[in-house]
Amino acid sequence: MALVSVVSAKGSPGTTTTAMLTAALWPRPVLLLDADPAGGDVAVRWPAEHGGPLDGDRGLLPLLTQARRGLTPQQLLQQAQRAAGGTPVVCGLAAPEQADAAASLWPAVAVAADALTGPSGEAVDVVVDAGRVTARSVHLPLLRTSAVVVLLLRADVSGVLHARERLRSLGDALRRADGLRPRVGVVVVEGARGSDGDQAADAVRAEADWVEDLGRLPLDPSGARVFAGALHPRPERTALVRAGRPLVATLAAAASGELRRVA
Ligand SMILES: Nc1ncnc2c1ncn2[C@@H]1O[C@H](COP(=O)(O)OP(=O)(O)OP(=O)(O)O)[C@@H](O)[C@H]1O
Ligand SMILES: [Mg+2]
Repeated sequence: MALVSVVSAKGSPGTTTTAMLTAALWPRPVLLLDADPAGGDVAVRWPAEHGGPLDGDRGLLPLLTQARRGLTPQQLLQQAQRAAGGTPVVCGLAAPEQADAAASLWPAVAVAADALTGPSGEAVDVVVDAGRVTARSVHLPLLRTSAVVVLLLRADVSGVLHARERLRSLGDALRRADGLRPRVGVVVVEGARGSDGDQAADAVRAEADWVEDLGRLPLDPSGARVFAGALHPRPERTALVRAGRPLVATLAAAASGELRRVA
């Protein structure tokens, strides 16, 4: 019953791809929630288990009207569909205008997602594609409820600079009323030279030592295309999926730890 939110500062470093990869490899019961306020991508990228497309009209959209009275975990589960491979997915909103108009949606979804259980009462973790985040994002309640917020960045100068800038304002914005905040960590998508990832993570942490270095993913266009619906004979052999396994194990361990108390 832990939320793990994948976010970006700027650009498109691979947030949706990484959230899908994380949900697909998660070692415990899991649901993928597409909560990108700029509009969801998962419905158009991940086919349904039955072979056709996921139904984009099912997901957060029907919850918009119900959310004013709060949402139960069951209401959230009713909007889940099984994607290929069996992962349950709650599809996102179609456009930023819906996300902005839906102020009551985000706290209600956060409460429901945080209490999610499966049919036999087992805890269900939630991996969130939270898209780009700022200190004024409408969906901050969802991020504050998360056990772990993962900021994804590319290992280049603009990736590092924007990550630093964003973390500076997010430190306070992620603080909850009870003084706790999620664990916050970076995952770096490394360039072709490999070692750039360490430099990028160190450069971010030099300005924000409260942020953890959670790991690396390779730049792997062929592996990434698998998460855009492309057919691949052995997806498990791609560099992305192979690197994803230890990363996701780290994220799952971090998610079962406690929220961090902030002085
Ligand atoms: N590890 C990776 N290696 C190579 N290409 C990648 C990787 N991750 C994602 N990509 C590619 O980068 C592009 C953007 O990826 P994705 O949509 O996941 O990013 P995003 O951060 O969610 O973007 P947006 O801000 O638009 O939501 C896609 O073409 C995707 O296939
Ligand atoms: Mg995205």
